[in-house]
Amino acid sequence: MSEVAKLVVGENTYELPILEGSEGERAIDISKLRAQSGLITLDPGFANTGSCQSSITFINGEEGILRYRGYPIEELAEKSSFLETSYLVLNGELPTAAELARFEEEITLHTLIHEDVRHMYQAFPLKAHPMAVVSALVGSLATLYQDELDPLNPEHVQLQVRRLIAKLPTICAWAYKYSVGHPFVYPRNDLGYAENILHMMFANPAETYEVHPAVAKAIDTLLILHADHEQNCSTSTMRLVGSSHSNLFASASAAIGALWGPLHGGANQAVIEMLTEIAAEGLSGREYLDRVKDDPNTRLMGFGHRVYKNYDPRAKVLKGMTREVLEAIGQSTPLLDIAMQLEEVALSDDYFVKRRLYPNVDFYSGIIYQAIGIPVNMFTVFFALGRMPGWIAHWLEMHADPAARIGRPRQIYTGATQRPYQDLSSRG
Ligand code: CMC
Repeated sequence: MSEVAKLVVGENTYELPILEGSEGERAIDISKLRAQSGLITLDPGFANTGSCQSSITFINGEEGILRYRGYPIEELAEKSSFLETSYLVLNGELPTAAELARFEEEITLHTLIHEDVRHMYQAFPLKAHPMAVVSALVGSLATLYQDELDPLNPEHVQLQVRRLIAKLPTICAWAYKYSVGHPFVYPRNDLGYAENILHMMFANPAETYEVHPAVAKAIDTLLILHADHEQNCSTSTMRLVGSSHSNLFASASAAIGALWGPLHGGANQAVIEMLTEIAAEGLSGREYLDRVKDDPNTRLMGFGHRVYKNYDPRAKVLKGMTREVLEAIGQSTPLLDIAMQLEEVALSDDYFVKRRLYPNVDFYSGIIYQAIGIPVNMFTVFFALGRMPGWIAHWLEMHADPAARIGRPRQIYTGATQRPYQDLSSRG
């Protein structure tokens, strides 16, 4: 018999199976615990709860390791392209040349969005945050393909996956165009994925826009680095919504909403705002860290991670890339020096050392986005663009998993016990 854990509660002993993953991670399977004992487990924030078995992404937070389908993130960032990585994340294997060409063609085929969606932008206030607009419009795609939304029909799913990956850059770029009052620029199918986003954001009918190859490469690499990160808040949202057999667009719309928060993907925007504030106030890294430590409501944004108790490997790649990108496009920014100084002070400060807080993916990404002209409120939109294949891969994996059930955690009720209703006139 395989290994079991024994749980002793009063007179009773319960045997719980122990599962082991391919990298030696171990878990106690408590799925039958309530049926056996009447007990549930309580784990706020799910910090110690595995919600599924997954073969997509491996993270070792202690050692700072991240791999998609077994491939180290550093190698993918250096050698792969975003669409190739998307194929890998979605299908489990790197594509052959023919498979990649077909995938790229399928994605390219669907870049246009229905003109009805185009009109929907007008319903939003100009100052609407693009994450709100993108979330709403991704959800609205379900209104266009009502007869092809069955999450259990492989043909429907195949089509919607391609539509979603293809149309997202158009939806995102147009959210930006709408916010600045510029005419929408249609996708160009002769361009690569990253180039096309930049084209749709920065070209206009009055001028051509040449995409700088270093900028396109930087965006492509940023998208690769964000492509998946196992069971984070937005991916868990994607799975949870999908677990009710909601369609792909509804699930992705909810995941985008989850990503928006400043404790998750919204941190890249928050980091630039923090660095800008430090520059404006002329604070040293030490002074800002003291402020963080003195004020329980201030955090060093872009630092700390639920899983990484070491340097986030994505942040390492980005830190190395930042100066290269700035040099390639002939830009400089005081924010990079401020960030590097903050990092240096934090990594030798007791508070951060004791809590094992290191730079995460959001610490340097915003500096690159800002240098290449991406507006601050679009940073998290780029995170969503990168994360989409990961969200979809998890959604597909969940539907293919015979053990998957509707996501429905339990609770320990702590409210009032039963009491009789009081008439309004008798309430003091
Ligand atoms: N600055 C200062 N203190 C921090 C920070 C920070 N950035 N992060 C954690 N701490 C402290 C926290 O106050 C707590 O201290 P104590 O034990 O004294 O109460 C301890 O470290 C543990 O923090 P936690 O909030 O229990 O950790 P968590 O795993 O629940 O939260 C986190 C993880 C990422 C939400 C958190 O580290 C944080 O808020 N970081 C800043 C926001 C950020 O950069 N988010 C991006 C995350 S990476 C990309 C992504 O997921 O989207």
